[in-house]
Amino acid sequence: MAKRRKLIVGNWKMNGRLTSGLNLAREVADRATASMPLTFDIVLCPPATLIWPIAETLMGSPVLLGGQDCHYANHGAYTGDLSAGMLADLGCRYVILGHSERRMAYGEQGDLIAQKVTSAQLAGLTTIVCLGETLEQRASGATETAIVQQLSASLPDKYHASQLVVAYEPIWAIGTGEVPSVEEIRIVHRLIRRSLGVAGETVQVIYGGSVVPNNAESILQDDDIDGVLVGSASLNGDGFWTIADKAR
Ligand code: 13P
Repeated sequence: MAKRRKLIVGNWKMNGRLTSGLNLAREVADRATASMPLTFDIVLCPPATLIWPIAETLMGSPVLLGGQDCHYANHGAYTGDLSAGMLADLGCRYVILGHSERRMAYGEQGDLIAQKVTSAQLAGLTTIVCLGETLEQRASGATETAIVQQLSASLPDKYHASQLVVAYEPIWAIGTGEVPSVEEIRIVHRLIRRSLGVAGETVQVIYGGSVVPNNAESILQDDDIDGVLVGSASLNGDGFWTIADKAR
């Protein structure tokens, strides 16, 4: 079976102003351009306000752009929302969907996320669907059940496997400095792959939750881990590039 390409994604969340965001994007773009041809894919997901200026900064570099969420509709009376088509229009190639911060803060559930997947794939975006167990679920041995349930609920009946990435992000590992062992990540990634059936052979399954330069190498070296979704450590250009470079 062909080896899956590694994918490094920086999720800036609600961080970055015009100057700081452009500087950060430029640093990553310069490092990536100097390392061309890249043997992995690298994606920045800045806040929506910075997508367009950063799109201009990234032109000519191998760094790709993604959104952090989108609406399920293509356009219409949805105050404050953004559609997948709008993200694609600005040059985004990816969108993060079902992040646990959105699931928790806005009560986003599987059926809504599945609708977003359909709409985003139709707009040509690759959908990064996030899943992860809570600390309570982990403690009670319910991780595998929680993951399988979230995965099947968050995917529409029909989707394009070539436009799907699954991000395993244990909620207890996000922003805490706590990281599961590579063995624990591998077990969940294999479970996700099995649950996806035939698509599981090609879909990239990436890990997120307190990935930092110090732990990136062991995570990225594992064949069952196709990349990382990085939060706070992606806000530092040097640190983010150090993580990405481990995917070589
Ligand atoms: P941290 O890397 O800050 O733990 O965040 C992970 C995350 O939520 C990425 O989507």
